[in-house]
Amino acid sequence: MIKLAPSILSADFSRLLEDVKKVEKAGCEYLHIDVMDGHFVPNITLGPMVIKSLRKNVDMVFDAHLMIENPDNYIKDFCDAGCDIIVVHQEACKHLHRTIQNIKSYNKKAGVAINPATPIETIKHILKDIDMVLVMSVNPGFGGQSFIEETIDKIKELKKLITKKNLNIDIQVDGGIKPDNIKEVVKAGANVIVAGSAIFGSDDINKTVLEFRENSRI
Ligand code: DX5
Ligand code: ZN
Repeated sequence: MIKLAPSILSADFSRLLEDVKKVEKAGCEYLHIDVMDGHFVPNITLGPMVIKSLRKNVDMVFDAHLMIENPDNYIKDFCDAGCDIIVVHQEACKHLHRTIQNIKSYNKKAGVAINPATPIETIKHILKDIDMVLVMSVNPGFGGQSFIEETIDKIKELKKLITKKNLNIDIQVDGGIKPDNIKEVVKAGANVIVAGSAIFGSDDINKTVLEFRENSRI
C-alpha cells in the first residue's frame, strides 16, 4: 500500500489550512512540507511557526523536507513544531550521520534526500540508521517541474540495496509525479509518493487522489 504525500508548496498559502483540510479529508496519509531557505535552493518558503499553527488543526503525518543549509541549527525547532518525519539533504550535511542522530534524539523519524545528480552510493553507509530515503525526481526548489526519467533506475538500485541489506526503509519520490507516471515509480520500488501541483492544482482533489491510488496498483 502506498502513502500519498501532497506537497503544500502548491497549496494556496492565503487559505493554507482550508487546502490542507481538503487533502486530509481525501485520505492522504502524509503532509509533505517543503522548507526552503534561499541558500540551499533558490527559493524561500516557510518555517516552524507555520508548521506549529497547522499542527493544532491537522492530524496527518507531518513530513518536513528541509531544503536548507545547516539543518542542525533548526532540527529542534522543527521537532518542537510537531513534525513527525524530518528529512535532510545529503548535500547539505557535512556530518550526515551526526545529523541523523540529532533528529532521532527527539524521537522523530529521520529521512535523507538526494538530488538527481547525487548517487545512491553516498548514503549506503547510513541506510541502517534511517527510516526513509527521499529520491528527488526534479531539482529541488520549485513545484510543477518535469519528472527526470533517470530517477527510475535510481529507485530500482536503492530498492535492491535495501532488500539486500534486509532493511525496512521507505522510499519516497518527489517531483513531477502525476497519475500517469505513478505506476512506474511504484513498480521501481517507491512507496511514499509526493505530489504537489497534481493534487493541489486539481479542481477535484478527491477524484485525483483516487486516480493516484488506482494507477499505483501494480
Ligand atoms: C521541490 C519540492 C517538491 C515539489 C513537488 O523542491 O521538493 O515537493 O513541491 O511538486 P510537484 O509535484 O508539482 O513536482
Ligand atoms: Zn519536497
